[in-house]
Amino acid sequence: MSQVHAPNPLRDPRDRRLPRIPEPCVLVVFGATGDLARKKLIPAVYDLANRGLLPPGFVLLGFARRDWGDGDFESVAKEAARKGARTEFRDDVWQRLAEAIKFLPGSFDDDGAFDNLARMLTELDATHGTQGNAAFYLSIPPSAFPTVLQQMARTGMADNSTAGGWRRVVVEKPFGHDLESAKELNRLVDTVFTAQDVFRIDHYLGKETVQNLLALRFANTLWEPIWNAHHIDSVQITMAEDVGIESRAAFYEQTGAARDVLQNHLLQLMALTAMEEPASFDAEALRAEKIKVLGAIKPPRDMAAYTVRGQYDQGWLAGQRVKAYREEKDVAPDSKTETFAAVRLEVETRRWAGVPFYLRTGKRLPRRVTEIAVIFRKAPHLPFAKTDTEELGANQLVVRVQPDEGMTLRFGSKVPGSQMEVRDVAMDFLYGEAFTESSPEAYERLLLDVLLGDGSLFPDAREVEDSWRVIDPIEDYWRDHDDRGGRPELYRAGEWGPKGADMMLARDGRSWRRP
Ligand code: BG6
Repeated sequence: MSQVHAPNPLRDPRDRRLPRIPEPCVLVVFGATGDLARKKLIPAVYDLANRGLLPPGFVLLGFARRDWGDGDFESVAKEAARKGARTEFRDDVWQRLAEAIKFLPGSFDDDGAFDNLARMLTELDATHGTQGNAAFYLSIPPSAFPTVLQQMARTGMADNSTAGGWRRVVVEKPFGHDLESAKELNRLVDTVFTAQDVFRIDHYLGKETVQNLLALRFANTLWEPIWNAHHIDSVQITMAEDVGIESRAAFYEQTGAARDVLQNHLLQLMALTAMEEPASFDAEALRAEKIKVLGAIKPPRDMAAYTVRGQYDQGWLAGQRVKAYREEKDVAPDSKTETFAAVRLEVETRRWAGVPFYLRTGKRLPRRVTEIAVIFRKAPHLPFAKTDTEELGANQLVVRVQPDEGMTLRFGSKVPGSQMEVRDVAMDFLYGEAFTESSPEAYERLLLDVLLGDGSLFPDAREVEDSWRVIDPIEDYWRDHDDRGGRPELYRAGEWGPKGADMMLARDGRSWRRP
C-alpha cells in the first residue's frame, strides 16, 4: 500500500517562516570605498552574517580605484561594520567573514582590471565553492554605469550560461537623469542582463514600515471601505532631513531634490498608498499594480501654482549655525540646484479622482522624519455648538515611516466636563512597543533579496520610466521658467522649506501637517 503524506506546509514556496539562505555566491561591490558601501552595504553584509543568513561559500569582493590589497579593504570594512552595523559587533562573526573578503584594484575603463575580475570569479568557484553565482552592486556615480555594464558584457561575466550559475546586477538610484536617459540605460542593462536579473534599488521599499503599508491596507478590513475620494480629503507625504548635503556635492549638484528623492522614494510611497490590491505579493503582481498608479499620475497642469523648489540658506539647527547650500564645499556659489521640492499630484482613477497628493522633501529641515498622512474629509454635519468643535481637526491616519516607526490615528473626543467640547486625540501604535524583534535595515533586507533572487521589492524598468514621466515636465518647467534667475526660493536652514510650499497648500485651503 502506498503511503499518503500530509502536505508539508513548509514546502509552500510562499511560506517564509523558515529563514531563507541564499546559494553560495560572490557579492562584487563596485565603488567599495565610497560612502554608500561604507555606511550601508558593508554593515548590512555584516548584519546578515551575524544573523546566520549568509551561505557558506560567500565572498565579498570590493572593486575600486585604490592601490589596496585584501587586508587593507578588510580593515576598512571592519571599521565600517563596527560603526554601522545594526546588530552587535562580534569578533568571531567578523573573523569568519574576513576570510572571504577580497579586493581588486582597478578603474572602470581599465580592460585589464575587468579581465582580472572575470578570472577571479572563476577562481573563487574553485577556492571558495561559489558555484558560478555572482551579484554585481553598482555603488558608483550614475555616469559610470554604462562603462561598467559594457565591461561586464565584454568579459562575458554577466552571462549566466557561461558562468554556470546566476549573475545579477544591482543598480542604485537615480536610475537615469530623465526619461530618455533612463530608457537608454534600461536598453543597455537589458542587452547585458536578463530582466529578472536586474535589481533597481529604491531602499525605501526595504524599510519595514513601508512594507507595512501593504499589511495595513490589505490585511485589514477597516480601511478599504474608506480608502477613496469619497472619504479622503488629501494625502501628504513628507520626507524631511535635518542633514545638509554632507560630502556629496558632486552628486547632488547634478541631481537635486526632485531627482534624488521625489522621482523614486516619494513616488513609490505614493504608489503603495494609492494602488489597488495585488493578486499576490509576487514581484510581477505587485509591480503591475504600482505601474497602474504611476501611469495614472499626471504632472500638475498649473506648474507655477503646484510645484515648488527651494534651496537652504544659512540658519540654525539644533543650536548650531549651519552654512547655506551655496557655501557648501564644491557647490557653485550661484548654484541653481534645489534642496527642497514640493508638488501636488493627482491620480486620475475613479478611486482617487480629485484627491490631491502633496509630496515634499528637503534637506536642512527641522528634523529627520518621513511620514504618510492620510487626511479624511470632515463630517458633512456637526450637531454641536460651533464653539464646541473649534479644536476639532480632520481625522488623520499617519503612517510614520521613520524615525518613530509606527502609526497614529487622530480623531475627535469629548473633553471631560459638563460641556460637549470635542478635541483631537491620538491613538498610537509603536513598533518598538508592539514587537520585541527589531526591524532589519533596508539594505540588509534588500541585499538578502538580491542574493535570493527575489525582485518583489525592486521597481522594474516600467516603474522607473513612468516616474520620470511625472518628473520630467516639472524639471523642464523649472529650467524654462526663470522667475528668480532660475534660482530656487531660499529657505532658512531649520525651517520647514520655502514660503512657496505653504502658499501651495494655502491656495487649496489646506496647510501642511507639522510632523
Ligand atoms: C538617499 C538620498 O536615497 O536617501 C539621500 O540619495 C538621502 O540624499 C537618503 O539622504 C535618505 O535615506 P534615509 O533612509 O536616511 O531616509
